[in-house]
Amino acid sequence: MSGPERYAVIGNPVAHSRSPDIHAWFARETGQELVYERLLAPLDGFRAAVEQFIAAGGKGANVTVPFKLEAHALAQELSPRARAAGAVNTLRFAQGRIYGDNTDGVGLVTDIVRNAASPMRKKKILLLGAGGAARGVILPILAERPAQLVIANRTPEKARQLATQFAADGPVAACGFEEVHVPFDIIINATSASLGDALPPVDPVVFGSGTLAYDMMYGREATVFMRFARGHGAVIRDGLGMLVEQAAESFSVWRGVRPRTGELLSWLRDRL
Ligand code: ATR
Repeated sequence: MSGPERYAVIGNPVAHSRSPDIHAWFARETGQELVYERLLAPLDGFRAAVEQFIAAGGKGANVTVPFKLEAHALAQELSPRARAAGAVNTLRFAQGRIYGDNTDGVGLVTDIVRNAASPMRKKKILLLGAGGAARGVILPILAERPAQLVIANRTPEKARQLATQFAADGPVAACGFEEVHVPFDIIINATSASLGDALPPVDPVVFGSGTLAYDMMYGREATVFMRFARGHGAVIRDGLGMLVEQAAESFSVWRGVRPRTGELLSWLRDRL
């Protein structure tokens, strides 16, 4: 098939996805020609939607809610970071095979280390939550060689399972929220609490002066977690940069070039 190569974001719902704008920006930024569309898959029709897209000449796709686990199951080959995450947000179709990757964790780490200029090496990091979003970022965080990564969760047993899974990859510990009473350098909220305007019940003492408090959620207003953290002296940041950086990493998985992201981030921020 001739014409520009085709990519898509597959989800349900998908109408609000910013990915088409982001990848159109990256295409312009890197001088590449491609088409990137939104694909709404029925809740019971993810596999069929992927197969149809491949048959129509699709070269790759981002996968969003609620299909990241199904994409992991569908992929015939997985990157180590996708295997560790247990979820796939990036599919690449080549030579009749489906390759699954996960760029969420690298997106988070790039946004913190590069964009927020907050290195993780030798730092104490607190990760709040032990669901899919948390699991996806653990390996890339440990790759930065922090002094310690503590995973705290409402259900401590789930945090302990993750700590056991990643024990060989770095210094990782687990506990419940009420067990944490010391300051951390970087605190990442990977719970879905912000969606319901709820706050993970952490002791404010975790926010030292200069602590970076990061919420994976983003929106026009600061989340309740960000407001709480700022009120206790932390520097705050939302997940818009993570969104942009995971997209840049997906783009580079597909196209072999990593676009610059700085201007795009401010452009998106102005349009929230
Ligand atoms: P996701 O893919 O967004 O991570 P998930 O796998 O359902 O979604 O995980 C949700 C995470 O947010 C879990 O860590 C959950 O805690 P539990 O494991 O105890 O369920 C956490 N969470 C959700 N609502 C919360 C709240 N109101 N306060 C604290 N933690 C919350």
